[in-house]
Amino acid sequence: MVIHSVDSPCRVRWKSLRLPSGVIWRSAYGEPVGELVTWAYELAREKLAVALPRRWQHVQGVAMEAVRISDVFEPHGELLIAAAVLHDIGYAPDLATTGFHSLDGARYLTASGAPERLVNLVANHSCARLEAQLRGLAAELAAYPDECTPVRDALWYCDMTMTPDGEPCSFDTRAEEIHTRYGPEHVVSQFMAQARDEIRAAVQRTKETLVPTGLDTWDH
Ligand SMILES: [Fe+2]
Repeated sequence: MVIHSVDSPCRVRWKSLRLPSGVIWRSAYGEPVGELVTWAYELAREKLAVALPRRWQHVQGVAMEAVRISDVFEPHGELLIAAAVLHDIGYAPDLATTGFHSLDGARYLTASGAPERLVNLVANHSCARLEAQLRGLAAELAAYPDECTPVRDALWYCDMTMTPDGEPCSFDTRAEEIHTRYGPEHVVSQFMAQARDEIRAAVQRTKETLVPTGLDTWDH
């Protein structure tokens, strides 16, 4: 039995999520997450856990952060968690048709029958619009509207404050790590340079939402 939990200094009451895989996630107070998250988790695990284990570590960290803050975004908490679980599924080698993971993931999720709003959140996560422009795929990504809501900001926050190994970090640390990992010439580094202010603003809006709840516990 594997237990993933994020312990918070504010000592909120935790509810448990038991998945068919035997994994237990502990979330903050509120409605327990349900079928959508279970489906998302099994799909992401199937595509990433063996093929891309480090990416899977990152995804689990992002998902756990989404679980931790999900109650703040009710009635959209389950959607937020499912999007966090699936946001990088497009990196799976058998799904990488364009090589742009946000678009490949969205197309795969559409074909898999995912709810439209979930698909759109994955397609647009972490300022994908700007990366699509750099890759010449702006028209293709435009098929998926960006809802520009606090839930969307929260997804960006969860992704952009989590290391590749699934450990919480500041946004600046995350941005620097991406630049170092890919190198200055890579399209991802160029994208991050362009997207930095927009992502930082989404992270900051989410932090401001979390502060009154006591859930802004990381030094982001
Ligand atoms: Fe990610």
